[in-house]
Amino acid sequence: MATSQIGWYGLGSMGLAMASNLQRHLAATKALSLVYSNRTLSRGDALQKLGGVPEQSFGDVVKKASIIFTMVSNDSVLESLITNTINSGTPLAQKIFIDCSTVHPDTISSISAQLSAHKASFLCAPVFGGNPVATAGKLVFALAGSTPDVRASIVKPLIQDIMGRKVIDCGSDPSKSSLLKIAGNIVTVSLMETVGEAQVFAEKTGLGTDAMEDLITEAFGPIAGGYSKRLTTGAYAPPLDTRPGFGVSLSIKDANHALNIAQDKGVDLPSVELAHKNMSAARDYGGECLDSSSMYGILRQKAGLAFWNEKSRQGGK
Ligand SMILES: NC(=O)c1ccc[n+]([C@@H]2O[C@H](COP(=O)([O-])OP(=O)(O)OC[C@H]3O[C@@H](n4cnc5c(N)ncnc54)[C@H](OP(=O)(O)O)[C@@H]3O)[C@@H](O)[C@H]2O)c1
Repeated sequence: MATSQIGWYGLGSMGLAMASNLQRHLAATKALSLVYSNRTLSRGDALQKLGGVPEQSFGDVVKKASIIFTMVSNDSVLESLITNTINSGTPLAQKIFIDCSTVHPDTISSISAQLSAHKASFLCAPVFGGNPVATAGKLVFALAGSTPDVRASIVKPLIQDIMGRKVIDCGSDPSKSSLLKIAGNIVTVSLMETVGEAQVFAEKTGLGTDAMEDLITEAFGPIAGGYSKRLTTGAYAPPLDTRPGFGVSLSIKDANHALNIAQDKGVDLPSVELAHKNMSAARDYGGECLDSSSMYGILRQKAGLAFWNEKSRQGGK
């Protein structure tokens, strides 16, 4: 597939890091350069410096590429991209779409059916790991859709050791990898809530957040340690003119997907409900420019501390 034109849409916190790694690989293997687009096209300037080729719109990327990756915020953005492309009349036969965003399994099934009616393939490849992991090319991918041969021979070689350290094959039904991603986020948001609680406890008891962070990292691993760092470095509430590592609204969306599926299946998710409540309260207080770990600010307030800590921004929304 070295001669296939590959396209990319979505250059947010995750997409830019992932697309940059893919472009580096394409350049190193002398393959065709990535064609890319983004709502805010200037976000791709660094990618262009790596050899990526900007296009004005998703439609232009689809026209030029035979394999198209998407990495966008949520279900409605992905749905509108695909619907507009189908309605544009661009021939889609034999094209391969791979979405890496976190969206509901029903959205994935619907998009897959629409694209397959136009003889295009659709694979769902959501990722585990934040921006630093994406930058390092060490994400964990859950991959599902199309045939075992397309997954193993075409898609996995564009991911393994380029954007990700591991590809979990979830079979031919694309909604299955979406479901695994949503299930994984039950652990993610609950762990963030727990780390936040422990750090507020450490501060209020005089134990100190440094000792707590050492313990969390050593005893519970680098993921939990990374969540603690988001708090102690103030990244849970970054400056207003920056993009959070994992925006609070994206995490609320993920928690909503988990809660809706759980309700349908009669499963109780009290930890997710609590994290959802605290993330929503954080967003009401501090606005959109907050990280998913910003439930910490609410936990601080409940303990009589300020929402902001000494390293975070000091107000505004
Ligand atoms: N960040 C993480 O740690 C993380 C980890 C795993 C999975 N995820 C999932 O990965 C996906 C991307 O996350 P992210 O952190 O990269 O998000 P992000 O930084 O908020 O970027 C979102 C992307 O979607 C685009 N977008 C938003 N609204 C749009 C619209 N109405 N029309 C067209 N494009 C639009 C943005 O364009 P602009 O650049 O123009 O705003 C940007 O390219 C989400 O589904 C998220 O849940 C995130």
